[in-house]
Amino acid sequence: MEGLTFGPLPTLPSLVEGLNPHKIAFLTNTTVERLWLEKAAEGIEEPIRIVIPDGEEYKSLETAVAIWKQLQKEGFTRRSLLIGLGGGVITDIAGFVASTYMRGTLLGLVPTTLLAQVDAAIGGKTGVNFNGKNMIGTFYLPNFVLIAQETLSTLPEEEIRNGLGEVAKYALLDRKVYALTRNFEGINETLIKECALFKTKVVEKDLRESGLRRILNLGHTAGHAIEKLSGYRIKHGLAVSMGLMVASKVGEELYGFDSGKTEELLKKLGLPTGHPFRAKEILEGMRLDKKAWYGRITFVIPVEIGDVVVEEVDEAVLKRALEATRDDSGSCDCQKPRGSA
Ligand SMILES: NC(=O)c1ccc[n+]([C@@H]2O[C@H](COP(=O)([O-])OP(=O)(O)OC[C@H]3O[C@@H](n4cnc5c(N)ncnc54)[C@H](O)[C@@H]3O)[C@@H](O)[C@H]2O)c1
Repeated sequence: MEGLTFGPLPTLPSLVEGLNPHKIAFLTNTTVERLWLEKAAEGIEEPIRIVIPDGEEYKSLETAVAIWKQLQKEGFTRRSLLIGLGGGVITDIAGFVASTYMRGTLLGLVPTTLLAQVDAAIGGKTGVNFNGKNMIGTFYLPNFVLIAQETLSTLPEEEIRNGLGEVAKYALLDRKVYALTRNFEGINETLIKECALFKTKVVEKDLRESGLRRILNLGHTAGHAIEKLSGYRIKHGLAVSMGLMVASKVGEELYGFDSGKTEELLKKLGLPTGHPFRAKEILEGMRLDKKAWYGRITFVIPVEIGDVVVEEVDEAVLKRALEATRDDSGSCDCQKPRGSA
């Protein structure tokens, strides 16, 4: 399993030395280069620096080709180390490039967004977008992941909230994380650590999402549909937060889960508790999602804090949950795209 290390950036050289790589390359984007590359590269001898433009649209095969070319030109080999320094876009593409170049190089990840620290950099899923999100990718575990909390000091507030949507998900899945969020006054190392460790433990048991790993989709079935319906104006983490509320209402009807707990949690984290769409529109979106196998909607449902079940849900139940969580007051952090009732 990947080595998960929590420590400041100066911890990096010792992790690198442990692998004894033949060459070292950093992969980052223009934003993170400016903010953190110098600090990250301190104490590492003559690293190659590969800098791509900032944005989800650069998580592409074209970018991967450009990186492969550069690595080849630099004489990179299987014993060389690629270090992805950045948010989830960078950690995903770094993983993809490292897993495919010469059938796999050494890989280290230094996630610099909250979302990447608690989610994207953990668990070995790599990929690029290709006629759809993450359509081309591999499972490839990094040799190390360094979570350096200081990198979050430059992260814009909206990116912190984006990551908090995933933190809220872990809180419903894990009692320890839930307990930590009870006194939430801002993101801290213990909270990040518990979330990252929770995901690590789940992935250790099920790397390829054949069973247990599916619980990590809590809030994502409705969340993805909401994100898409908004034309991506509602950020992933906020859409997940809305999806958690929907899942909690389903849990309430089927298993007596107290959805008030989710509402309280989301409010504490400053996250939205309602979505702005019609139930019918979201249901349609969920049917199209790649996780709705054969047109049936599989849902992760909270039974109590720290306990969920994964099962198909009757559409009538879903519809009621979606109606109960609709908030069209305009106060739910999201502009409705034109044309939506
Ligand atoms: N592999 C997985 O398991 C997994 C899981 C969840 C998400 N993802 C992927 O992660 C991506 C989203 O990740 P993200 O939310 O981190 O987005 P991102 O990588 O685009 O980063 C968000 C923004 O923050 C900037 N940034 C990064 N670190 C910064 C810092 N320390 N200070 C200031 N700005 C900084 C980035 O340049 C970018 O503009 C998506 O492509 C998604 O598919 C992958």
